[in-house]
Amino acid sequence: MPMRANGPLPNGYHNSSSPAFNSTKTPKKGGPPLPTSSSSISSSKHALLQEQRSELPIAKGKDALIHEFREHDVTVLLGETGSGKTTQVPQYLLESGLARNGMIAVTQPRKVAATSLAGRVAAEQNVALGSSVGYSVRFDERFSSQTRIKYMTDGMIVRELMSDPSLSKYSIIIVDEAHERSLRTDILIANLKTIQQRRNKSQDAKGKGKDTSNPLKIIIMSATLDAEKFGRFFTGSKILYVQGRQHPVKIYHSSQGQVDYVDSAMRTFFQIHTDYPPGDVLIFLPGQEDIESLEKTIQIYANQLPHDRMSVLICPMYAAQAAGQNSKVFLATPPNTRKCILATNIAETSITIPGVKYVIDTGKCKEKRYLARNTGGGFDTLLTRDITQSSAMQRAGRAGREGAGHCFRLYTEDAFKAMPLSAEPEIMRCSLSSSLLQLKCIGQDLETLELMDQPAEESMKSSLIVLYLLGALNLQKEITALGRQMAAFPLEPIYARAIIASKEYGCTQEVLDIVSILSASSKLFIESSEQREAVSEARKKFRHVCGDHLTILNVVKAYQEIAYSEAKGSRKEWCRRHFLNERALLEASDIRDQLRQTCQRLGIDHSVSCGDKDDPVTFSLGHGLVMNIALLQPDGTYKQTIGQSIVKIHPSSVLCDKKIPAIIYDELVYTNQIYARGVSRIPKSFIVTLGALKQQR
Ligand code: CDP
Ligand code: MG
Repeated sequence: MPMRANGPLPNGYHNSSSPAFNSTKTPKKGGPPLPTSSSSISSSKHALLQEQRSELPIAKGKDALIHEFREHDVTVLLGETGSGKTTQVPQYLLESGLARNGMIAVTQPRKVAATSLAGRVAAEQNVALGSSVGYSVRFDERFSSQTRIKYMTDGMIVRELMSDPSLSKYSIIIVDEAHERSLRTDILIANLKTIQQRRNKSQDAKGKGKDTSNPLKIIIMSATLDAEKFGRFFTGSKILYVQGRQHPVKIYHSSQGQVDYVDSAMRTFFQIHTDYPPGDVLIFLPGQEDIESLEKTIQIYANQLPHDRMSVLICPMYAAQAAGQNSKVFLATPPNTRKCILATNIAETSITIPGVKYVIDTGKCKEKRYLARNTGGGFDTLLTRDITQSSAMQRAGRAGREGAGHCFRLYTEDAFKAMPLSAEPEIMRCSLSSSLLQLKCIGQDLETLELMDQPAEESMKSSLIVLYLLGALNLQKEITALGRQMAAFPLEPIYARAIIASKEYGCTQEVLDIVSILSASSKLFIESSEQREAVSEARKKFRHVCGDHLTILNVVKAYQEIAYSEAKGSRKEWCRRHFLNERALLEASDIRDQLRQTCQRLGIDHSVSCGDKDDPVTFSLGHGLVMNIALLQPDGTYKQTIGQSIVKIHPSSVLCDKKIPAIIYDELVYTNQIYARGVSRIPKSFIVTLGALKQQR
C-alpha cells in the first residue's frame, strides 16, 4: 500500500517502530458479499451482518470456545480489541444452549458501550432491541421477559444483588472489560466468586446437595494480556486467547512536549488530511469539553477547504451522549470524505470503530480520584492526567484493525517511557460510600469481602464517616432503616438523603426536579466564552438569591410552562435563546419519572410541593449535603465544617461574587485551587440543627 510516511509533520515528529505492534500477518479475507437479486433490502443487510460475523477473528475458534465454556465454570477470555468477544460470545452461548433457560448478562463499565453493543447484537440477531437482546443502564433500560442477552453496566448488576443476592436470573455472567478494574466490576467479581460457590456447590456433591438446577458460569473478558491475576483469583479457571487481527502501526512521537494538545491535535489532523491517503482519523481526547472545542475549530477550517478536497465528517463520541446519538460513527464513510472521530478513552477497548487508519493520541485522559481525609471530608476529583503505557498501546492499536496504520503521539518518546505501565484499580482511588451502602444492604462489608485488591484504609474510614453522618449507618457500622431507604434510590447517598428529607419538609416535587437535573449526564447550562454577556443577560431571570439549586428549579419550572403551552419547536428555540441544553431537561424528565417510582415504593408522596418557599428546599438538600458545608472566613474564602479545606465559590455559580456566611455545595472541583460548585446559602442556625440531629442518633 503506498504510504507517505516521510512528509513533514507539524509537531516535529520522528518515526519509531513499536515492538508491540508487529504484524500478525493474518491475511484479510474476502470482500463485501455480492448482493443477491431476490433478497429484500433488510434481508441483504442481515446477510451482510452475518458475513461480517463469520469473518471476525473469533469466528474461527467458535467450536473450541463453546467446548471450553461447557467444560469450565470460569473462563478468562483474552483477545485484541475488535476480535469479536463482546458481540459474538453471548450469541455463541445462546445458540449452543449453554445458557439453558436463563439469561446471559454482559457487563460493561460504561453506559454508552452497553447501549450501543446491545443495538449491534440485536441487529445481528435480526430482532428488535429490547426483545431477546436488551440493555439495562442507570435511568434507561430496554428489555422484556423474552430477553436472553442483556448488556448492562456493572453498576446495574451490583444493584440487582440487593433484590436477588444469588443473581438467579442469570445462568451466565460475562464480566467484560475486566482489565479496566472499575470499582463496580471489582465488587461484582468478588460477589460472583461466592455466588458461584453457593450455586454450583451441590453439583459436585452428586445429588447429595440441594439445588442443582441453577449453576452459574462466569466468563471474564479482557483486551489486555494481564490475565494471571483473574486466573489466580478464580482457582480452577481456564485462560483462553483469541488470535487478534492486528496490522503494523507506525508510531510517531512528537519531538517536544505539546503545551496545547487540542491545538496540536487540530494541526496534526489537517496535516494528515492534506498529506495522507484516504482513511479515517481517530483522535483521543480526555473529555467532552475538549471534544466540543476541537469539533468547533476543525469544522471552521474544514469549511474553508478547497472544493476539490475530500470533505471532513466529524463524529464526537463520549460517555454523556444519549443512546444512539453516536450512531454515525459506525456507518460507512461517504465517498470522498474523511471521518474524524473525536473520542474519549471509550474508543480504547470498549467500542471498535471501523475504517480507522490514523490515530492521534493526546496522551491525556480524565481520571476520577478520591482525596480521602481522615476526618471524613474527602472529595472526588476528576482531573486530566497522563495516560498509561497500556492505554497508549491500545490507542495506537486502533489504527491497525483493517490494514497498516499510523499513530501520532502528541508526546515525546521519553514521556511515553515515563508513563506508568497500567492504571491503578478504581477501588484504590475512588469514593466508596455508595458501594459500601449497597454492600451493607446485603449484609456485606468492604473489609470482609474477598476482593482482588483491598481499598486504602483511609478511604474506607472516610466513607464510613460519610454514611454515619448521613444517618445511613449507626455507630456500630450497621445499616439503619434510613440507610436502606437511601440505598433504594439509584443515586449517590447524598441526593437520596435529600429526597427522603424532602418528605419531612413537604417539598418532594421541588427536590426531585433539582436532583434529576443534577443526575443528568449532560450539563444544563451551555457556557460560551465568546458570548459571556449575552449568556448572563439571557439567564438573569432565572437567578435566585438563594443560589444554584433554586436557580435550577426556576429553569425547570419555566421550561415546564413552555413545554405545556407551546409546540416542540418553540421549546427548542426557547432553550437556545437562554443558552440551555434541552437534552439535559429531557433526560432529567425521564430520571424524575424513575425517581418518582422509587418514592412511591417507599411511601413518599412525590407530588407534595412547598410552592414558592425556599427554605424547605435548601434544608432538604442540606440534610444530604451535610458533608459539604463551608463557612465564610474573614479573607472571603470558605472553610469546610468537616474536612477543614479552604475553598472558593466556583465562577460558574450565581453566588460567586457574594459573601454568604454559610454555604452548601454539590461538589468540590480541583483545578489550581479547590472550588465549590453548585452552591446555595444556608442559615447558620440550620447547621446547628443538623449537628443536633447527629447527636440524637
Ligand atoms: O469485544 P471485542 O473488542 O473483541 O470486539 P466486538 O466489540 O465484539 O466487535 C466486533 C466487531 O463488531 C468490530 O469489528 C466492530 O466494528 C463491530 N461493531 C459494530 O460495527 N458496531 C457496534 N456497535 C459494535 C461492534
Ligand atoms: Mg469488547
